[in-house]
Amino acid sequence: MKGIILAGGNATRLRPLTRVTNKHLLPVYNKPMIFYPLETLARAGIKDILLVMGGGNPGDFVRLLGDGKEFGLHEIHYTFQEGAGGIAQALGLAEDFADNQKIVVVLGDNILEDDISAAAHEFEKQKAGAKIFLKEVKKPQSYGVAEITNERITRIIEKPKNPPTNLAVVGVYMYDKNVFNVIKTLKPSDRGELEITDVNNYYIQKGVMTYQVLKGWWGDGGESFDSLLEAQVLAAKWAKNKSSSS
Ligand code: DAU
Repeated sequence: MKGIILAGGNATRLRPLTRVTNKHLLPVYNKPMIFYPLETLARAGIKDILLVMGGGNPGDFVRLLGDGKEFGLHEIHYTFQEGAGGIAQALGLAEDFADNQKIVVVLGDNILEDDISAAAHEFEKQKAGAKIFLKEVKKPQSYGVAEITNERITRIIEKPKNPPTNLAVVGVYMYDKNVFNVIKTLKPSDRGELEITDVNNYYIQKGVMTYQVLKGWWGDGGESFDSLLEAQVLAAKWAKNKSSSS
């Protein structure tokens, strides 16, 4: 499987922090934010990675990550998204890189404690379709939210005013090669973006979406100043626990 990290977009919600610095390069305790999704993929044994960059100064990512060997990667490729047409638009740029293989996509501002290796193995065996991750949160209104009946996801609603559950859709997605055909059929949403939630709803309607609920903590460092602060505090606790147990 190949890995794709999406680090495009304008990060307007975090201005002025992001007026000069790309959101994904902001510090989250002792590392730049982008290290976390890279490490999530590397830990799961996914070592061929495409980074989709955006905004000003994309060369900063290359200076920081280089050839990816420091992270144990086999190869890191870079591409650039013009503008901020949405997560699904950014993912569409990865079609050639994916080369008809299954892919794992991680949003560049998502920080996960869980190891996704077992889920990645399960998805390798899954005949076709997609797999997503859910996490119980206090403020589901800020995320894609899963509606669930009899343990099956029936729909995902993007940032609902009245969330049907408190299960947020985490920014880690596993797709079969068909995802690029699905993206080509999408129309921009009311906020003018090609929505990853529309891609996920396609797979749900086809009955080929599986999911797993994360056990460890999950942070979306880019949602708000508070979510960034929360991610920093959790990352600090995590790093300290790891160093005291080793
Ligand atoms: O973090 C999980 C949430 O991420 C999900 O629950 C939502 O369903 C999903 O839509 C997304 O919501 P956000 O509002 O948090 O997405 P945001 O615009 O912050 O973008 C998240 C990352 O995606 C960002 O760090 C970089 C990448 N991105 C985003 C856009 C809009 C791109 O690469 N290109 C883009 O055009």
